[in-house]
Amino acid sequence: MVEAERRAFADRAKHLGDPDFYKVPSVLTDSSYIQRRMVNFNPRVANKSDSISYGMIESEETTHFSIVDTGGTQFFNHDSEWRVWRLHRERGAGFLLNNEMDDFSVKPGTPNMYGLVGAEANKIEPNKRMLSSMTPTIIEKDGKLKMVVGTPGGSTIITSVFQAVVNVIDFDMDADKAIQSPRFHHQWLPDVIITEKDAIPLSERKLLEIIGHTFKDRNAIGRMEAIVITNQGKLQGAADRRGDDDVKGF
Ligand code: DON
Repeated sequence: MVEAERRAFADRAKHLGDPDFYKVPSVLTDSSYIQRRMVNFNPRVANKSDSISYGMIESEETTHFSIVDTGGTQFFNHDSEWRVWRLHRERGAGFLLNNEMDDFSVKPGTPNMYGLVGAEANKIEPNKRMLSSMTPTIIEKDGKLKMVVGTPGGSTIITSVFQAVVNVIDFDMDADKAIQSPRFHHQWLPDVIITEKDAIPLSERKLLEIIGHTFKDRNAIGRMEAIVITNQGKLQGAADRRGDDDVKGF
């Protein structure tokens, strides 16, 4: 998972930006391209991020993306920006300040508050949308809804959602177990596996360190919510115990 994440975040840094301004290569999601990206994967040794760059794009085709608007969601990037907004509200200004500018790449190679780097594709331009890690995900199986999942957490959103999906689809966990299980994260740069306590047992960690991985512990990663539809058609809702989240059926 880490080696896939390392490559995906390297591609993101180079190739992702507002598609109204930048021709995002649609080949990025082709399985043949993904397989090519993984040819130098070796489970016995950690690839160093300074030896992994973005994938070369050989052909560019039309880009497709879908949006479902739930309406009414106001999003704040960070506490400090929330305070800026409150100050203005208290003075009666009555408007919200844009608080997602940090999601743009300020200059190539300079990390934002989540340590993400970017380049041309995500540079600041008038009327352009900044790149986002937000990954509200809907999964269907045989044309029927199987799972919905999402979380806050900046760059860790992507890997948290990935992990929850793998937990349900590949490890057959129920929604609650998939969400409560400890998480880990790698985003190409910095070249480190960030882990919640107990996400990777110490014995396993030691083996991974021998092959070149490094680890950094941190507290809770994300606050996920998920709904999984069982094979019997029942809804399983799960809310992350890392936060004050809740789940309700009605
Ligand atoms: O869109 C993004 O990628 C960020 N603005 C998300 C920030 C976020 O998840 C903050 N939550 N903890």
